[in-house]
Amino acid sequence: MLNSLNKPVHILGIESSCDETGAAIVDDSGRVLADVVQSQVKLHAPYGGVIPELASRDHLRNALPVVREALARAAITLAEVDGIAVTHRPGLVGALLVGVQLAKGLAWSLGKPLVGVDHLVGHLLAGFLRRTASSKAPEFPFVALLASGGHTAIYRVDGPHARQMRELGATRDDAAGEAFDKVGKLLGLGYPGGPLIDMLAQKGNPHAVPFTVPMASTRSFEFSFSGIKTQISQLVHDHGAPKTEESLADICASFQAAVTSVLAKKLVAAAMREGVTHVVLGGGVAANRELRARTYELASKHGMIAVLPELASCTDNAAMIAYAGLMRLVSGERDGWDLIATSTTSLPRMTRKGRGPR
Ligand code: KG4
Ligand code: ZN
Repeated sequence: MLNSLNKPVHILGIESSCDETGAAIVDDSGRVLADVVQSQVKLHAPYGGVIPELASRDHLRNALPVVREALARAAITLAEVDGIAVTHRPGLVGALLVGVQLAKGLAWSLGKPLVGVDHLVGHLLAGFLRRTASSKAPEFPFVALLASGGHTAIYRVDGPHARQMRELGATRDDAAGEAFDKVGKLLGLGYPGGPLIDMLAQKGNPHAVPFTVPMASTRSFEFSFSGIKTQISQLVHDHGAPKTEESLADICASFQAAVTSVLAKKLVAAAMREGVTHVVLGGGVAANRELRARTYELASKHGMIAVLPELASCTDNAAMIAYAGLMRLVSGERDGWDLIATSTTSLPRMTRKGRGPR
C-alpha cells in the first residue's frame, strides 16, 4: 500500500487514444480488479490502418458500456473509487477527447479527483501490473524499451512520474509496430501485421533472407525501420508475393529476427551504459515471442533481470493508465477541468526524425 490511509486506493482508468476503448479498476499494489478492452481492429481492418473519424465514433458508442463492465467485473461502485485517470496524450485528438470528456463528466458529477495520464508513461509502468510470486516487479531505476504501433524508444526510468523518464534514443522513422504492420500489408496478411507475423515466423527459417537493419550498431540507441520495409517491398516487386507457405514463413521469420535482435541488443546495451540491473519491455510489440525470448536471454547473459509484462499489459489497455494515474494521485497530484487532449507526448524527445548524422 502506497498511501497513508489504511485501506487500498482504487482508481478507474479510461483509455481511448487509438483503436481500443478501455476501462479498468486497479489498486495501489498493482492488483488489476478489472481490465476491459473493446478492440476496434475489425472496424479498421478493411482500410489497413486506423481511420481517426471511425475510431472517435466507436469510442463514443463503447466508452460508457466499457466503464460499466469494468465496475461490474471489479464488483465496485463509482462512489467507491478514489479517483479517475484518463489518457489525455499522445494519440488521435478526436479519440482522446471521448475519454477525456467522459472522465471529466464522471469526476465532476461524483466529486472525485481527476488525473490525466501520458499514454507512454502508462506503457512504461505496465510491468508493475499483474505481478505474481514468481514474476518480479521492476525496480527503479530501470531501462525500458517501449515498442508499439506509434512509438519506439528506449527510456531510462528513475521513478513513476513523467519527469523521471528520459529518452535515450528513439526511431528516426517508422515505429517497430508500424514496420510489422506495413510488412504484414505488403505480404497480404491483413491488419495488424504484428501478431500474424509473430505466428507465421514460428515455422520459418530466420536466416533465409539476409535483411539489413540500419543503425544496428549498439553505440547509438536510435533505430530505423523504414529500410527493412523497403527491402521487403522490393522483394515482392521483383519476385511477386511469396508463393508457398514456406517462403512466406521464411520472410516473416527473417524480418522478425532482424527487428527483434536490434531491439533487444540496444535495450541491454543501454542498460549496461546506464548501470541498471532491470530491463523492461512495454508496448504492443513487447507481446512478440521472439523479442521476449531474446530480451530474456541477453539480459540474463549480462546478469540483468528482464521484466516481461503479461501480454494483456503490453498492448493498449486501461489498467496501465489507471496505475500511472494512481501514482500521480497518491503523490497528491490532480488535474483541473482545463485538462486537454493533445496529440504529443509530455516526455521530451531527444531523437530527431530523418536521415543523416547527428
Ligand atoms: O501498444 P499498442 O497496442 O498500440 C499502440 O499504442 O500503438 O501496439 C500495437 C502494435 C501494432 O503495430 C501491432 O502490430 C503490434 O503492436 N503487435 C505486435 C504483436 N502484437 C501486437 N508486433 C509484433 N508481435 C506481436 N506479437
Ligand atoms: Zn500504446
